[in-house]
Amino acid sequence: MTTPRKSIHGQWSGRMAFILAATGSAVGLGNIWKFPYIAGEHGGGTFVLVYLFCIALIGVPIMIAEVMLGRRGQQSPVNTMEYLASEEKRNESWVLLGWLGIVAGFLILSYYSVIAGWALSYVFRTGSGMFLGATADGVNSIFNNLVSDPEHLLAWHTIFMVMTMVVVARGVKNGLEKAVTFLMPMLFGLLLLIVGYAMTTGHFQEGFDFMFIPGKIDGNAILIAMGHAFFTLSLGMGAIMVYGSYLPKSTSITQAAFAIAIADTTVALLAGLAIFPIVFANGLEPDKGPGLIFQTLPIAFGHMEGGTLIGVSFFVLLVFAAWTSAISLIEPAVAWLVENRNMSRIYASVWIGVLTWLLGLGSVFSFNIWKDNTWSLPYLFKDANFFDTLDYLTANIMLPLGGLFIAIFAAWLMRESSSREELATWPLIYRGWHFLTRYVTPVAVLIVFLSAIGVIKL
Ligand code: TRP
Repeated sequence: MTTPRKSIHGQWSGRMAFILAATGSAVGLGNIWKFPYIAGEHGGGTFVLVYLFCIALIGVPIMIAEVMLGRRGQQSPVNTMEYLASEEKRNESWVLLGWLGIVAGFLILSYYSVIAGWALSYVFRTGSGMFLGATADGVNSIFNNLVSDPEHLLAWHTIFMVMTMVVVARGVKNGLEKAVTFLMPMLFGLLLLIVGYAMTTGHFQEGFDFMFIPGKIDGNAILIAMGHAFFTLSLGMGAIMVYGSYLPKSTSITQAAFAIAIADTTVALLAGLAIFPIVFANGLEPDKGPGLIFQTLPIAFGHMEGGTLIGVSFFVLLVFAAWTSAISLIEPAVAWLVENRNMSRIYASVWIGVLTWLLGLGSVFSFNIWKDNTWSLPYLFKDANFFDTLDYLTANIMLPLGGLFIAIFAAWLMRESSSREELATWPLIYRGWHFLTRYVTPVAVLIVFLSAIGVIKL
């Protein structure tokens, strides 16, 4: 029986609108800021390979499962899980999956916004021409000046949070489609330009080899690579589920998931190919941490023909990419408040936005006055400050856990007749998806968890 439900928040105008919005959610700081710096910290090669495997074997099946649950439920993830659990005659505590997602989204956005603030401030830094002819040292000290100043970071964090609240308050569907349609290809084009510059540095091969020639890796790095596959595809917290709930019934979910995963992965690999040659050409270390792109790309902008214009456009597009991701991080919470508390979208967005902004202060201070307030959790992390801890717990624990439960619900607890009907795809593709989501994905996530805490050795 088809469920005769329709989201009260409205629907995407069609398949393309959904693909663009979900790609907008997936492509963001994760691809351009986070991927290069964590790949750099964990030695490249094998890390990138594990990440690619996780995208294909874990990310794509879970994305299909998550969109499917959302479209079947047609509500915010909390209510969707409640509804589906009762439809499938399962325990009502599955709503907890929705709540886990709301908490994860809120935690992630609180630091995401701070980093997006860095990108915002770099629009103006690049525009002022301060990077013209810059050296690695000069670029480094400009970055350190920014992050050591809590007031500056706070101002940019505030601006970014307001931008996010405004879009969420107006409804994520308005304007997103048109904007993503031409801004995403532009970002792509600019990345290609920077990769072109990277090819002229004489160290392209070195950067390429760093990214693709396998080396050593430990259990914790494997967990980080897997966590990043969830993070970069926006999986495991209901963002893609809530976008799926605005999807009309006629759309093919499987094709959309492939398209989104391919676009997302391409952007990340291009960002790596742009950055690592610049790292090696300037005698820098690839494991500089969260400042990596801000300490390398400006060197390129300072030396290439038309660098100021290219640099400004690049950071504008990066902010935009972060913006279309940020809105998906609080959409599940806002949709829930609208459904259950009868709030207006505006009121709900402001509420969640202000709370997120407050928590973000912890990440603002993590780069200056609280920098050395660190702690360690055996096996998982050492000397992590507030920002490091939030990032680790959300990306590497909460998202994979959320994804694991999504896979279990979709492939073990949901009747096959339901998922088959909802996916409405070719039998072979359905079987492939069902097999992966039932056996491969949950087992892989469990193995990675166990190896990170040292229970098994990979
Ligand atoms: N995927 C985005 C990025 O790569 C971040 C993001 C948006 C996200 N929504 C999410 C991460 C939901 C996890 C869950 O920048």
